[in-house]
Amino acid sequence: MGALLGVNIDHVATVRQARYARNAGSINVEPDPVEAALAAERGGAVGITAHLRQDRRHVVDRDIFRLKEAIGTKLNLEMGNAPEIVAIALKVLPADVCLVPESREEVTTEGGLDCVKYHSALEPTLKAMRDAGIRVSLFIDPESDQIAAAASLGAPVVELHTGAYAEAAGAAREAELARLIEAARQAADTGIQVNAGHGLNYTNVQPILTLPKLVELNIGHSIVSRSLFVGLEQATREMVECLRF
Ligand code: PXP
Repeated sequence: MGALLGVNIDHVATVRQARYARNAGSINVEPDPVEAALAAERGGAVGITAHLRQDRRHVVDRDIFRLKEAIGTKLNLEMGNAPEIVAIALKVLPADVCLVPESREEVTTEGGLDCVKYHSALEPTLKAMRDAGIRVSLFIDPESDQIAAAASLGAPVVELHTGAYAEAAGAAREAELARLIEAARQAADTGIQVNAGHGLNYTNVQPILTLPKLVELNIGHSIVSRSLFVGLEQATREMVECLRF
């Protein structure tokens, strides 16, 4: 039981961009997301996640290529379904791609990718990724029709959006957890790997470990925040400890 940890290093790049947005591609700018990835690996991360956004607000193209070269675990490239970014993914060839919404209209009620509405737009991307040997995960809300759409797209993995759970309190949080558990069961019954993420931290993550067949959690903001005080290797190690069940 428990879950494996993928560390999202986007916000290391966010700090870099706060100072160096105009020359993030040059050398000696800090902090370096690749150095952060290596520290997360030393702390026990089994994968590194980075989101190459179309607006390049944090991670930039060069980061993705350097991460692929430097890390010893696996790269999970988060991306929207945009032709420009798909082309980059097919050049980088990360182990995993996680397709996420980037514009308002792609988002379901709670913020996952709307795989029902965008089924036909997603089909060719999943095929291209599959043909290139990239494993695709779809970042979806814990809803039955989204899981059915992921299954019909042939997605091997879904990442269940835990944002609504993270934002809720009391009985509402319990209800969100129940939805996540039900969605995880449905995905697992369909033969889809269950990952989850968004908004998870050191204090709210434990109940998420009860999701049936949960394999990986992708966590970023809370780990990068804690790293300011204890360093990224230690912050990662502490989260790995939290994920032992
Ligand atoms: N998973 C996905 C698909 C995400 O988009 C994000 C946020 O970039 C995360 C996980 C990590 O979320 P957080 O930074 O809140 O831990």
